[in-house]
Amino acid sequence: MERTFAIIKPDAVERKVSGKVLAMIEEAGFNIVGMKKIQLSKCEAEGFYYVHKERPFFGDLCSFMSRSAVIVLALEKENAIADWRALMGATNPANADAGTIRKELGVSIEENTVHGSDSPESAAFEIPYFFSQLELV
Ligand code: PPS
Repeated sequence: MERTFAIIKPDAVERKVSGKVLAMIEEAGFNIVGMKKIQLSKCEAEGFYYVHKERPFFGDLCSFMSRSAVIVLALEKENAIADWRALMGATNPANADAGTIRKELGVSIEENTVHGSDSPESAAFEIPYFFSQLELV
């Protein structure tokens, strides 16, 4: 079994489609081993996205991610990292395949509904950024 980290982003929580995202996660066979609703500070968003700090959209991304609540998740299944990335779809919803979360629910390249770890190293940083051992079931 493998674990990955996911975020249901502010655009989805604001539009009240987080339940649809959670249904797609469970229907795809993931076990939700951690889940909570929080609001990130700008500083916490900057720490989470530090690998992108040199990219031109870094400021906008961190402002967006801290503008309202998010749902953070730890997900478990075999091949969880790649399978969650596949279920999310391409970063830009316009390029995402039918049936993916970003195609079905995404708004734009910024307001793209979900985040997922892109590697085991990222998951190993991202899960404990938000969850203590005691919060993972
Ligand atoms: S990814 O998912 O890391 O492969 O995609 P990448 O293109 O490298 O983008 C990294 C994160 O930045 C977000 N992003 C943007 N935000 C605002 N404006 C623009 N133009 C933009 N382009 C990319 C993208 O949604 C990724 O966020 P996460 O949360 O990692 O999915």
